[in-house]
Amino acid sequence: MLGINHVAPAKPIAIPYQQLIDAAEPSHRTYVAERFADAIVRNGVVYGEVQWWLPRSSSPRSGAIGSTSTRARTSGTSTSRSAGRFPPEYRALCEQLSALIVFDVLIDNADRWSGANTMMSPDASTLFFMDNTLSFSIHRFGHEIPNTALRRIEVFPRGLIARLRDLTYEAIRARARHGR
Ligand SMILES: Nc1ncnc2c1ncn2[C@@H]1O[C@H](COP(=O)(O)OP(=O)(O)OP(=O)(O)O)[C@@H](O)[C@H]1O
Ligand SMILES: [Mg+2]
Repeated sequence: MLGINHVAPAKPIAIPYQQLIDAAEPSHRTYVAERFADAIVRNGVVYGEVQWWLPRSSSPRSGAIGSTSTRARTSGTSTSRSAGRFPPEYRALCEQLSALIVFDVLIDNADRWSGANTMMSPDASTLFFMDNTLSFSIHRFGHEIPNTALRRIEVFPRGLIARLRDLTYEAIRARARHGR
C-alpha cells in the first residue's frame, strides 16, 4: 500500500511433512527432518510460509549491509543528513536506506542491522529488506533500535512520505479484510 516493494513476496503454505522430507537431497534428509522438527505440524501437514528466492550475488560489494559493513551504514546515514546533497553515485542507495529506516519504524523491527537481513541485488540496484519477523513489539512507542536509526536521518523519499500521510486506518483494515 505504501509502494515500498523491497520485500520478497511471500505467502502462507501447507505442505505434507513427508512430501517435504522426500523432496530433500537424500544426503540431507536427516538434517532437513531435524530442521522441521520444531515446525508447526498438524495431522502430518507443515504450516509455514514460502518466499520468492532473492537473486544471490557473488560480489562482496553488493552483499548485506549491517554491522559487518559499518562504512556503508555510516555513509548511508550521514549522507542522509546532508540536506539532500547526495553524491549522485550514492543517491539511489541512500533513498533505499531511508525507505528501509522508515519501514522499520512502521513495523517496529528491532532486527535489521545484524548483517544478514538486507541483501543487494546482483546488479547493485535494489536493496532487499529481508527477515522482518522481529517486528510489532509491545513497546508503546516502538523499539529503540528502529527509532534511533530514524533520528539519524533527515532526508526521506518524498513519494513514500506522501503515501504514508494519506494512509488511513480504514484503508488498512479494508485491505486486511479483502486482500488485494
Ligand atoms: N528469500 C530469500 N532469498 C534468498 N536468501 C534468503 C531468503 N530468505 C532468507 N535467505 C537467507 O537465509 C538467511 C536466514 O534467513 P532469515 O534472515 O529470514 O532468518 P533468520 O531467522 O535470521 O535465520 P536463523 O534461523 O538462521 O537465525 C538470510 O540471512 C539469507 O542469507
Ligand atoms: Mg535473519
